Amino acid sequence: MSPAATQSTTTPATAGAEPGSSVTELLDAQHPEGREPAPADGDEDPKSHRSVPRSAAFRRFIAQGWGPRPAEDEAPAEAAPYAARRRAALSSLFPGEVLVVPAGPLVRRSNDCDYRYRPHSAFAHLTGLGTDREADAVLVLHPRAGGPGEGGADAGGDGEGHGHEAVLYLRPQGSRDSEEFYANARYGELWVGPRPGLAAQEAATGIACRDVALLAEDLGASVAEPATAGLRVVADADPAVTALVGPLRTGAADEVAAADDELATALSELRLVKDAWEVQQLRGAVAATVRGFEQVVRALPRAVGHPRGERVVEAAFDGTARVEGNGVGYETISAAGDHACTLHWIRNDGPVRAGDLLLLDAGVEADSLYTADVTRTLPVDGRFTDAQRRVYQAVLDAADAAFAVARPGVKFRDVHEAAMRVVADRLSAWGMLPVDAATSLEPEGQYHRRWMAHGTSHHLGLDVHDCAQARREMYLDAELRPGMVFTIEPGIYVKSEDELAPAELRGIGVRIEDDVLVTEDGVENLSAALPREADAVEAWMASLRG
Ligand code: GLY
Ligand code: MN
Ligand code: MN
Repeated sequence: MSPAATQSTTTPATAGAEPGSSVTELLDAQHPEGREPAPADGDEDPKSHRSVPRSAAFRRFIAQGWGPRPAEDEAPAEAAPYAARRRAALSSLFPGEVLVVPAGPLVRRSNDCDYRYRPHSAFAHLTGLGTDREADAVLVLHPRAGGPGEGGADAGGDGEGHGHEAVLYLRPQGSRDSEEFYANARYGELWVGPRPGLAAQEAATGIACRDVALLAEDLGASVAEPATAGLRVVADADPAVTALVGPLRTGAADEVAAADDELATALSELRLVKDAWEVQQLRGAVAATVRGFEQVVRALPRAVGHPRGERVVEAAFDGTARVEGNGVGYETISAAGDHACTLHWIRNDGPVRAGDLLLLDAGVEADSLYTADVTRTLPVDGRFTDAQRRVYQAVLDAADAAFAVARPGVKFRDVHEAAMRVVADRLSAWGMLPVDAATSLEPEGQYHRRWMAHGTSHHLGLDVHDCAQARREMYLDAELRPGMVFTIEPGIYVKSEDELAPAELRGIGVRIEDDVLVTEDGVENLSAALPREADAVEAWMASLRG
């Protein structure tokens, strides 16, 4: 057995030092296990339990005998021209400023295991890079020396000659004679696979790519330009990059924080109206979500009787997403019976019983990271009881009321208010409110919200709760515009121990959630392929179960 073969598959042989740079040193300082010095030939570490190949002979041996890596795909990504236009829009908001948008680091799950990598949404939006691309990368918009239209080739790839030059800073692939290659479990090719080279990333994104080791030097040069008004960073994306840019900034801490908040707000608001490519991605995510729901219906007989039937449901949905090559945009909510009244029930460890309702809130996330967010509440045995149907119909009517008002020019919050009028009205009719429905709807009342504590709608896109840093006047108080995508998702949740509710309604939780695209004169229900009316749900379930 070779020395390497005696190595545990869960710990690196030794740690590899990264190419020296402020940002990589900062990153590695946060994870010192990644920077253990190479051991001297024959050294033994008395505290290490690892089986470490230490000899110089091993290091020479593993570095040799490798043929060239397979040729990299150098086709431009479909998203590239759209991402270029988004960068141009951002550029126009911050003339003369250096804008730093990190992808973010790998995130530790526990001990030496990381979560699957997911870049910051602002980075994904501005680069078009999606799943697993690219830990520790940093997008920088450097102001052009002469302002808009000046300077050399447009590294943003958009040909619009805007006032910034985009540069993507990346960790280059470690060579096969580096320790990173075989000994670095977080970044090494032998452990986590190859990273695209700078040339391939440049071809895919249309953005000039440079070694991240040059980031500090380039930022220093950029902020020293006389035209530069300042530097802003997406401060929550990568603490190491935020620390790196600190010394380059002038101004008091609160001014610096306010400047970064303005950037975060702008980046969020840039995503309020989706472009054609984003809408296409969302359509694909919703279509895959519909297929996941169908598989859940087929899996229901298996879930019933299983001690953790909710997990069977979760596995059916998430498994369908994975089998089709996708992921999920958030933890699947598989909530049977009273669990449906827990709004974000993701433990999913309960049984699924015939006669109960199953609330399934789930969304497929495409490679591009655009996600669906859909809920259906299904009778486990295929037929709603009268009480379940009563609550279901009230929620459906609330959703339909929201659909009826949603169109360009209507304020976002008006959609919610339309749904709330129906919810308050029904709860009043069932004798659950201490006041009449109109009084409950007054801002100082809101008694009906006891049974629907969440909002009716949120924007949807790269994040399930997209555009969350947008200002109130751009979100809740803003008018709907064509290209916006949001959810309509009223619910009524009556917990089993709710003493203010009629006995027959206790333990019933219903949410119906659809994803809608604002069109020129209304909205399109992107998730309309999943039935919504109670009778249609029953018929659909029967057709799938044969
Ligand atoms: N899936 C979380 C939500 O509907 O907002
Ligand atoms: Mn939602
Ligand atoms: Mn949802």
